[in-house]
Amino acid sequence: MQTHLRGRDMITTQEWTKDEIDTVLDVAMDLKRKRALGEPHPYLRDKVLAMLFFFTSTRTRASFEAGMAQLGGHAQFIDSETTQISHGDTAKEIGEILGRYNDGIAIRQCDWGFGNQYIRDVAAASRVPVLNMQCDVYHPFQILADLMTIIEKKGDPRGLTINVSYAYASSYQKPISVPQSLILLMTRYGMNVRLSHPPEFKLMPDIVQQARDNARQARGSFEILDDFDAGFQDADIIYAKSWGAMLTTTDHEESARIGRKYTNWITDERRMALAKEDAIYMHCLPADRNIEVTDGVIDGSQSVVYDEAENRLHVQKAVMALTMR
Ligand code: CP
Repeated sequence: MQTHLRGRDMITTQEWTKDEIDTVLDVAMDLKRKRALGEPHPYLRDKVLAMLFFFTSTRTRASFEAGMAQLGGHAQFIDSETTQISHGDTAKEIGEILGRYNDGIAIRQCDWGFGNQYIRDVAAASRVPVLNMQCDVYHPFQILADLMTIIEKKGDPRGLTINVSYAYASSYQKPISVPQSLILLMTRYGMNVRLSHPPEFKLMPDIVQQARDNARQARGSFEILDDFDAGFQDADIIYAKSWGAMLTTTDHEESARIGRKYTNWITDERRMALAKEDAIYMHCLPADRNIEVTDGVIDGSQSVVYDEAENRLHVQKAVMALTMR
């Protein structure tokens, strides 16, 4: 267990050691147990978190805000559109100023080719920890919650096969940050990671290379498939979700047009039957129901999506309690 995490940013799990991530999971489990028992745990009394959103959210906003209240502090919601950010406040000014009012700054900025750099620019100017609530490259808190859920449901993750797959969605061109963060973290835990996608839906080459390196170091495996059904075969965990063709085109209309070639990439009961009998179905949500996944699967006995969403609360509280004290 690592005990010196005060002041640390969480921008990607790649910048935290495995020992440090194990500490987060350990504290998250403890906080989950405390909440279940109704034990108060005000580790951040009188502390304030700024939550700056450039993009919509349900789970992330609600879980960070609830988490800060449960830790005895407060979270302030700041919307980029209704503040002077829309008139030119810079990343440096946001880091300097919000860092003086608050004990942590959490940011969601998913604009392709911009979001991660914006968060890093704020962090460079901030005297308090900066937490990435999702950018164009990473979604670290989602993936910490996913790992916690896998450990709860399956035990030791080493040797488990996870299928991180593209699925079609019509609602919007979703960021690639979830599959990228998944392949980065699950390979560090010795899992057999399959990345399945049509050719136009590649992830960033340097992220894929880091996942390969992680797998080699952790004695797991990493492979890329372009056959949707093959990804399900004998898998322990199915994590199939949509993302945009960002590496092929930055035009959202063009990305949507490419995606329409793959409307048959939907997680359904037939495909789930290709996985192990006790396989679990995961999705970060929101999902396009009956387009990305059938109601039967997402509401079925193999789905763990609600426990997965709950674990956002516990891992975020753990990171905040460890870094913002
Ligand atoms: N999974 C996730 O980040 O959900 P929101 O977009 O609703 O925050």
